[in-house]
Amino acid sequence: MILKIGVLASGRGSNFQAVLDAIKSGRIKAEISLLISDKPDAYALTRARNAGIEAFYLDPKDFFSFSPAKDAYFEKIAEEFTAKGIGLVLLAGFMRIVKKPLLDAFPWKVMNIHPALLPSFPGLHGQRQAEGYGVKISGCTVHFVDEGMDTGPVIIQAAVPVRHDDTEDSLSERILKCEHKIYPEAVRLFAEGRLHVNGKKVEIKGARENETPLISPPIEE
Ligand code: GAR
Repeated sequence: MILKIGVLASGRGSNFQAVLDAIKSGRIKAEISLLISDKPDAYALTRARNAGIEAFYLDPKDFFSFSPAKDAYFEKIAEEFTAKGIGLVLLAGFMRIVKKPLLDAFPWKVMNIHPALLPSFPGLHGQRQAEGYGVKISGCTVHFVDEGMDTGPVIIQAAVPVRHDDTEDSLSERILKCEHKIYPEAVRLFAEGRLHVNGKKVEIKGARENETPLISPPIEE
């Protein structure tokens, strides 16, 4: 049976689009069945609808009367994804910490993309943090999500050099190009049943030479 993917997105959705494109090209054997956004004007919603994918806005405020409110929001998301037979959840620029009800419903089946080389610079604005700190190499990370903030087991990373004249924007732009390569790659490995979480480590079964989980030197056109 084909892997069904559910997506959570808060913004422009370019990472969602990269995964969708890799599915359309046949590189990933999967389908995206549902996209949920916590922002009514997220461009990711438009991208999904343009591609004929069911997509809706789920207002976190509707769950504020429940206790604890954030858990109730993620319970509802878990219900929606379970009803669709989702086998993998992708956070694609989803700017909230995922709570236990969703993680319990999808153990080691929730992935995130982060714009820095974790465990450095977790949380918001990973690119700004890296540029401001003065590191010479940053990059991006795909990881499984646990209850911490960007602390889950690492699946793939790509390194990106920080140039002396970089700004947050220029660095973000180069990191984003790498994000669009490693996220579909991680999804492909998952869809092929090749990712196994062993403690803090993700083992990639049958990895071939051209499938190194550290993509470095940087993938720049
Ligand atoms: C991406 O750079 C992603 O790594 C980052 O938000 C951007 C979303 O872009 N995510 C985080 O910072 C999560 N902490 P997109 O909506 O175009 O995919």
